[in-house]
Amino acid sequence: MKTLLPAIEARRARRALSPEPIARDEVQALVAAAHFAPSCNNNQPWRIVIVDETKTLAEVKEALSSGNYWAKEAPIILAVASRRDLDCTLSDARDYFLFGCGMAVGNLMAQATSMGLVAHPIAGYKPDAVKEILGIPEGYVLIALVIVGRPGNADKLSDKHREIELGPRTRRPLEDVVAWNRFSFRDPSSA
Ligand SMILES: Cc1cc2nc3c(=O)[nH]c(=O)nc-3n(C[C@H](O)[C@H](O)[C@H](O)COP(=O)(O)O)c2cc1C
Repeated sequence: MKTLLPAIEARRARRALSPEPIARDEVQALVAAAHFAPSCNNNQPWRIVIVDETKTLAEVKEALSSGNYWAKEAPIILAVASRRDLDCTLSDARDYFLFGCGMAVGNLMAQATSMGLVAHPIAGYKPDAVKEILGIPEGYVLIALVIVGRPGNADKLSDKHREIELGPRTRRPLEDVVAWNRFSFRDPSSA
């Protein structure tokens, strides 16, 4: 049986990056993978700004949270933005724009892993500052920055991050999050 699972397991939120440049055709493969993601009604709600110009990259890096110091090594940062009305907005709070963008980033990460690259999404940045730097209009949500680079040396990481980088994968038991036939999960708030 051919299976993608080993490749999916191989992806990690790696923080040890090399500043080595990423070629344009490599970036194009990443965004092509993102753009083949499914979306509600094929709305394709993702808007991806590729940041590789030295000055702009430095400005975006200034807007990162301090815990994302490691991302300052990255040769490329992708900004993923969208707006609620660019995708289906259905009953029961089903606003699909975040879901669509998540799937696009999922594809992008799988492609990056297959190319031996790191693509690590982060939420730790000042969204208003990055939106201003990149000219992202009002009304858009800057959903994530995806830090892209080649794997680097873990020596530069904090002790905590080095331990995570070199340690095993951590996940809850599958039965905490997957059930057969009936929603039988404990409510985390009453645990
Ligand atoms: C939406 C989102 C936001 C994240 N934000 C950050 C972040 O700001 N800084 C960081 O170092 N990692 C960030 N991560 C990475 C997660 O911490 C990481 O995926 C998680 O700990 C599981 O590790 P794994 O991806 O290696 O399995 C983020 C991941 C996602 C999906």
